[in-house]
Amino acid sequence: MKKHNYSAGPSILPQEVFEKASKAVLNFNDSGLSILEISHRSKDFVAVMDEARSLALELLGLEGKGYQALFLQGGASTAFLMAPYNLLKENGKAAYLDSGTWAAAAIKEAKLFGETIVVASSKDDNYTHIPKGYEIPADADYFHCTSNNTIFGTQMHEFPSTNIPVVCDMSSDIFSRELDFSKFDLIYAGAQKNMGPAGTTLVVVKEEILGKNGRAIPSMLDYAKHIKAESMYNTPSVFAVYVSLLTLQWIKAKGGVAAVEKLNNAKADLLYTEIDRNPLFKGAAAVEDRSKMNVTFLLNNPEHTETFDALWKAAGISGLPGHRSVGGYRASIYNAMPIESVQVLVDVMKALESKV
Ligand SMILES: Cc1ncc(COP(=O)(O)O)c(C=O)c1O
Repeated sequence: MKKHNYSAGPSILPQEVFEKASKAVLNFNDSGLSILEISHRSKDFVAVMDEARSLALELLGLEGKGYQALFLQGGASTAFLMAPYNLLKENGKAAYLDSGTWAAAAIKEAKLFGETIVVASSKDDNYTHIPKGYEIPADADYFHCTSNNTIFGTQMHEFPSTNIPVVCDMSSDIFSRELDFSKFDLIYAGAQKNMGPAGTTLVVVKEEILGKNGRAIPSMLDYAKHIKAESMYNTPSVFAVYVSLLTLQWIKAKGGVAAVEKLNNAKADLLYTEIDRNPLFKGAAAVEDRSKMNVTFLLNNPEHTETFDALWKAAGISGLPGHRSVGGYRASIYNAMPIESVQVLVDVMKALESKV
């Protein structure tokens, strides 16, 4: 039986993407070769990379606006250090919003490169809300934020306005909602949540912000080098890029990010409505900052844990336990999660209510 997969990442992808990817593993483009054994320089794969790069920009509404999309390796964790390496001047400073564990990990890396100002932090309340009302120093080299905090289930619904370059880790909500993406100068996202399998990281960068910090940058960490090499500076993760392309094509066929966002809103509404209605549960994050991708919630009475766990497991649900730093449950309802699967979870929550 196919499970209802609530895993936070690697996570659910569209069923048709799994099917197309499986076929390509056996016979890619009727070439008689597997996608796993072809050269990344082959005509067929260069076409995959080119389409993936341009489709990523198209879906974000950034085509023809001076941006480049790259599919790199090393995960979002490598982007944590690439941002300061490429943007932070030797004697400059960077401004960071500390909204969760991953934001804190990005801050830790930036500190290795220079002065790193934390403009605000919600660490003191275990990151259950997004800090607001902070000032961004106008003389910082860039401002860094995390659009969706995967672990805590909070999401930025508004972004501060500033004249300095804005860098955003969108690992867990890329392509999930419409935003004015031209307000961001550097966006990065590990593929393994809303875009593809683990192994590639989407980077979307406004070219004009690069080459200005005067640092000598190792080639693999230099965004400009990757742009010049058309995202083929070294052997890219061929399969992960291909599966990402299939997912981007799926998003486009659904009607683009706007259409996917509508479905995401319906799924989040369904689940949060039940969390708020059902007296056995409570949400873990501040209501105004709730994430539409990672829904974190707790049982009011921990004694119900065993019964609830047995119920959702019996319903074919997988990947529901919360991160150890929050406890409770985390339902990751990424783009590919069908609303029918969310309904299964809601029904289980109702079933618990009538059972206890
Ligand atoms: C928001 C966010 N940023 C960064 C990361 C780290 O990504 P990676 O494992 O690709 O380095 C994660 C992983 O879950 C994440 O959720």
